[in-house]
Amino acid sequence: MTVYLVGAGPGAPDLLTLRAARILAQADIVFHDALVAPEVLQIAFRAEKVLVGKRSGRYSTAQRFINKQLADAARKHRVVVRLKGGDPMLFGRAHEEIDFLRRNSIGVEVVPGITAATAASAEIGISLTRRGAARSVAFVTPRVGQGEAPSNWVGAALAADTVAIYMAAGEAAVIAQALIAAGKPPATPVAIVENASLPSARKFAGQLADLAELAAKTHDGPALILLGQVFSEAAAVVRPARGRRAQAR
Ligand SMILES: C[S@@+](CC[C@H](N)C(=O)[O-])C[C@H]1O[C@@H](n2cnc3c(N)ncnc32)[C@H](O)[C@@H]1O
Repeated sequence: MTVYLVGAGPGAPDLLTLRAARILAQADIVFHDALVAPEVLQIAFRAEKVLVGKRSGRYSTAQRFINKQLADAARKHRVVVRLKGGDPMLFGRAHEEIDFLRRNSIGVEVVPGITAATAASAEIGISLTRRGAARSVAFVTPRVGQGEAPSNWVGAALAADTVAIYMAAGEAAVIAQALIAAGKPPATPVAIVENASLPSARKFAGQLADLAELAAKTHDGPALILLGQVFSEAAAVVRPARGRRAQAR
């Protein structure tokens, strides 16, 4: 009995790993996140597909119920896949699923995926660890689960040269305020990448002081906030080519 926790990557179907595709093609049942591309689900051609969430503030299945569904399916089917956006081990509640399955004597195998931060870095063509400017990267989120203590994401963001902030574009004003209050210079370069890896990708760049303004330009897609000196040239990268809008690809 094994449940495969598979990373679906940031959105573009061809960023799926070969291993993920192989397991999906063998799957009997796939429990998937809301943002997984239809083309990726089609690879699981013989599988029953079950949508189990999650987009912030919208429909989502309670985690406890997902855990139980996975365990029940593992007892019934040969290949059970839990397909998660990006990399399953980053901000994806993987631990809760792994822990529950292990406690129920069900094996777990994790298949990594491309996370939003690396997809966003590729999208704007700026290395997160540019030599001479950045030797550390922090993946942070201000988001915590209900009833949990607030995270010290600000401390982590101050300590790292480059910061990728997940699940935060909707709270950009609060994020900027918190960072500036903690000592981050308002002129720190920032970029926001929405729908990284997809044809609908949109990118914005500026300074930390303008973060809320930049975030207000995003539409409805998942968006990542990037922060750090390496993004000092991001404005030039996202600037519109003559006669085209900045976001057009
Ligand atoms: C619940 S977290 C899951 C992260 C995922 N496990 C990963 O490794 O990318 C969802 C957040 O990831 C970011 N995200 C996911 N896909 C993205 C994309 N294609 N472009 C930009 N940000 C994305 C957004 O910040 C979104 O709110």
